[in-house]
Amino acid sequence: MEIKAIRGFNDVLPEEIGKWQFVEGTARTVFEGFGFSEIRIPILEQTRLFSRGIGEATDIVEKEMYTFQDRSGNSLTLRPEATASMARAYLEHQMYSFDPVAKLYCMGPMFRYERPQKGRYRQFYQIDAEVFGVANPMVDAEVIIMLIEFLKRVGLENLELQVNSLGCRECRPQYREELKRFFESKSFQLCEDCQRRLNSNPLRIFDCKVETCKEAIAGAPKVTDFICAECQKHFGEVKAYLAIAGLAFILKPEMVRGLDYYTRTAFEVVSYQLGSQNAVTGGGRYDNLFQEIGGPDIPGIGFAIGMERLISLLPKEKEVVRRPDLFVAALGLEGQTEAYRLINQLHLNGIWAELDYEGKSLKSQMRRADKLQARRVIILGDEEIKKSRAVLRDMEDKSQEEIPLSNLVNALKEKVTQ
Ligand code: HAM
Repeated sequence: MEIKAIRGFNDVLPEEIGKWQFVEGTARTVFEGFGFSEIRIPILEQTRLFSRGIGEATDIVEKEMYTFQDRSGNSLTLRPEATASMARAYLEHQMYSFDPVAKLYCMGPMFRYERPQKGRYRQFYQIDAEVFGVANPMVDAEVIIMLIEFLKRVGLENLELQVNSLGCRECRPQYREELKRFFESKSFQLCEDCQRRLNSNPLRIFDCKVETCKEAIAGAPKVTDFICAECQKHFGEVKAYLAIAGLAFILKPEMVRGLDYYTRTAFEVVSYQLGSQNAVTGGGRYDNLFQEIGGPDIPGIGFAIGMERLISLLPKEKEVVRRPDLFVAALGLEGQTEAYRLINQLHLNGIWAELDYEGKSLKSQMRRADKLQARRVIILGDEEIKKSRAVLRDMEDKSQEEIPLSNLVNALKEKVTQ
C-alpha cells in the first residue's frame, strides 16, 4: 500500500483496545476516588504557551514541537504535553474564583518530533493528573500515592519510584552556576549539544545519552546539596509523608526532568523491563508555571503516564479478547428473515450477535462461528422454522437444546447474562 501512517504515529487496533480501555477506566476510577475531575483540552495551542511554559532551552521546545502557521499566520503547536494547557484552561476559565484548589486529569495524544524507537513515538498518549493551588508538601505525597495506587491496580510490578528536589527560583541559579563551573572544567568531554547547553541550560546536560557526557555527569555536584532551607524543608516533608504512607522510593539527585517548569519535588517511576526508554511516568511540582504563562502566583504539581510504555508492561491476563455472545446460523429465506429480526432485537438488548450475510452453507457458518469464538450458536433452518423451535448449541460444552421461537429473545437474554 502506498499511503501509510506517518513515521512514529501508531494505530491502536481493535485487538489491543481492550487493554487501553481497561487502563483508562482504571485511571478514571482511581483518580475520581481521589477527588479529581476530567478536563478535555484542545490538541492545538498557541506556540508561545509551550515555549514560555516548558522553556525555550529545552529539547522539546528547541527541536521537538510540531509547529506551523495557520491560514491567518498564527503560530500554532500540536501539544507536546498537557500540563501547560491545563494551567491555561484553569486561568482562562478562572476556575480559581470558585475554589483555588483544582484537581484535574486528562487523557489523550501528545506530539513530539523525536527519533522513533521502541517506547518513543511522535504521537503518544498520556494520562495526566494535576493539582493546582496547593503548595503544601502533603499534596506532593498524595499525588504520588494516587499514581502508585493506579499502577498497582492495573497490575504493574517491579517499578521503582525515584524522587528528587530541583530547588526554587531562589536557590536554583546558584546551583546552575556551580554546575556550569563543573562542566566547564570537563568541556572537552562534552558533545556539541552539551557544549551549547553549558551556557543555555546546564541542567539539561544530565539528560544527555552520549557516553562521554555520561562520564562527565558522574561526578557532577548534586542539586540537593545546593537547595535553600525552605526547599530542604519541603523535600524533607515530602519524604516523611511518603514514608508514613509506606511507599518505598529512591533518591535520584541527577534526575532533572526534561521540562524547565519544575521546582522542588520531581519524580519518575521507571521499569527496568523497558530498556532505554524506561520512564513509565514523570512528574513534579511547578510553582512558577502559572506566572511564566502570564497568570498569578499559583503552585501546581502533577504527573503524566506514558500509555504505550504502560501498556507494553501489562501482564498477559489483562489482554481482553472480545467474543460475540452468539452466532446466528440461518438457512433458507425464512430462516434468514427470522435471523435478521432476531439479531436486531438482540442488539437492542445489548447482546452481541453475529450473522452470516452471504447465505453460505451451515458448515461454513459454523466455521465462522468458531473463528469468531462465539460462545453459542443458534440454528435457524427450514426445519426449525417449520417446528417454530430454534436449536441452541453451546460451543464450549457442545450441548444442544431447543427453544421456542416465540420466547427466543428472552431465553437468550437469560442465557447470556447467566
Ligand atoms: P514527560 O516526562 O515529558 O513529562 O512525559 C511523561 C511520560 O510520557 C514519560 O514518562 C513517558 O512515559 C511518556 N512519553 C514522553 N515522551 C514520549 C514519547 N515520545 N513516546 C512515548 N511516550 C512518551 C511530561 O510530559 C509532563 N507534562 C509531566 C507532568 C505533569 N509534570 C507535571 N505534571
